[in-house]
Amino acid sequence: MPGDRLKDLRPRPRVLMIGFAGHQGKEYLPIMRESADIVGGVDSAPPALPLAGEWGFPYYENLDDALKSVDFDAAVVTVPHGEHFPVCASLLAHGRHVIKEKPFAVTEPEARHLIRLAQQADRSVFTLLQRNFDPVFRFARENLARIGEPYWFSYDYHFNLARPTTGWRASWEQARGGVLLDMGYHLVDVLSGMFPEAPRVHSAFVHQYRETRDRGLEDLVGLMCSYPSRGLEGSLLISRHSLAKAEHLCVLGSEGALNVAPGAATLHAVGGAQLERCAPEGSRTDITRSMIAHYLERLEDRDYRRDHLLRQLATVRTIDGIYRDRSGGSSELAHRCA
Ligand SMILES: NC(=O)c1ccc[n+]([C@@H]2O[C@H](COP(=O)([O-])OP(=O)(O)OC[C@H]3O[C@@H](n4cnc5c(N)ncnc54)[C@H](O)[C@@H]3O)[C@@H](O)[C@H]2O)c1
Repeated sequence: MPGDRLKDLRPRPRVLMIGFAGHQGKEYLPIMRESADIVGGVDSAPPALPLAGEWGFPYYENLDDALKSVDFDAAVVTVPHGEHFPVCASLLAHGRHVIKEKPFAVTEPEARHLIRLAQQADRSVFTLLQRNFDPVFRFARENLARIGEPYWFSYDYHFNLARPTTGWRASWEQARGGVLLDMGYHLVDVLSGMFPEAPRVHSAFVHQYRETRDRGLEDLVGLMCSYPSRGLEGSLLISRHSLAKAEHLCVLGSEGALNVAPGAATLHAVGGAQLERCAPEGSRTDITRSMIAHYLERLEDRDYRRDHLLRQLATVRTIDGIYRDRSGGSSELAHRCA
């Protein structure tokens, strides 16, 4: 029987939305409904109750109430970083799959703890990372071998927010880091899919505002990543208050180069001649839709689950290592890769 017809016969997963009244939660509501039955929503923010009414699903003020009242297969978790672990631990203790926003975890020990809980419960914990489902980044991964030996990359990602960070991102307890953890998680994860973990990282943590400096929440981070055994170096520059919103990855190799920006990726010969271009027509919503459908179809796939957890552990380990060593300004990560 063709795969699509088999898919049609599977029951739609029942999903609980946790943090559904926030920015990211609201973005996922219409897309989630296409592939799953939303059987409830948890969020204590005042707009959450009327929003659940508009969408026609039961509302719960906290997760404990939902766990007592409604049966579901998986939960989608879009809450502030400080809430991720307790929410996910509780879901796994109740035998539920988790599809969660980044970061997978805020420290390496927390990531390892979460992986143990997922393994004990035999449940999935998938992290929502759109770039892994974006055709332009897929083009970059698939064409990496065509540029020969990569010797340099630069990856920049900037927002142009005109005011100091507010809300939970301005609280260390809730954010657990500044731009490196928040925006940089995406970039470090993209690099995890292309290169091994960087054995050495030099970092510069920069603050535009006194309050973010006082709270240890960097507004800008610059990283120099070294892979001495591969002859590869690379830089990451991530900020919230730049002149323009921008994202750009460039990889230079012995036989060519890759250039990736939102909406288009190009492969070049040495010297710049364009060899191939990928400029897909789909929207950001299409990418999110394919990511969500992909995870919902693999909730019971233990091999896929294991690979996903290992990749997320690597991403968390890199970021945690950079934060822990920031006072020294340089991070020797090799010993943690063993
Ligand atoms: N992938 C992306 O591009 C992207 C973009 C933005 C945010 N995010 C991630 O999404 C998550 C949420 O960020 P946001 O910008 O949507 O924040 P937000 O403040 O807009 O939304 C968070 C929501 O969670 C609710 N909440 C807080 N604690 C809760 C709890 N214990 N149980 C249930 N609900 C709770 C809040 O009331 C709020 O409605 C973060 O992990 C963030 O990193 C990802």
